[in-house]
Amino acid sequence: MNVIQKKDKIKLFKEGQELPYHLLLLADETIEAIDKYIHQSEIYIYERDGETVGIYACQLMDGESLEIKNIAVSEDCQGEGIGQKLLTHAISNATKRGFKFLLIGTSNAAFRQLYLYQKMGFRFYKVLTDFFTKNYQQEIIENGLVLNDMLLLRKNLLSK
Ligand code: ACO
Repeated sequence: MNVIQKKDKIKLFKEGQELPYHLLLLADETIEAIDKYIHQSEIYIYERDGETVGIYACQLMDGESLEIKNIAVSEDCQGEGIGQKLLTHAISNATKRGFKFLLIGTSNAAFRQLYLYQKMGFRFYKVLTDFFTKNYQQEIIENGLVLNDMLLLRKNLLSK
């Protein structure tokens, strides 16, 4: 039997390479919004057979916390466990580097993402009321709901 083994790896995105905005735009609405954090972020990409199919970008918040500002998997590879692998990588990387907390934010309407983050041990931390209505010019609808509030979740890296 011939089994084609897909070669997957997560690697640090090197400065100077072209940013895969097509992926980043799956998790954020505009390039303008992405550009506010992406250039101060540490970025990891998920490669499958040499093609970038996933990404996450982390920003230093203070001496004890990192925040995942953007995480995305290409549409044709979603639901295969890549998002969980990227989150596991981010958690382990932040833990090894001695950070206390890893944060991640998403909208009030992102039900599946909220499920995934809680499954990975993130707990609700803050509600940024009207974040989307204040920061984006256009009204954004997701899952039939207007995006208004940002829900910030946090994983305590010191507790199991
Ligand atoms: N599609 C499929 N499953 C999803 C999705 C989704 N859009 N979102 C969450 N899930 C749930 C599933 O129920 C599944 O749980 P299960 O294993 O118990 O069945 C699990 O989470 C899916 O896990 P993965 O397969 O590892 O997730 P995936 O590789 O699809 O990555 C991600 C999840 C990153 C949310 C991806 O679907 C995606 O890129 N979505 C569009 C962009 C996005 O919304 N990004 C997050 C915005 S918030 C931020 O960037 C900080």
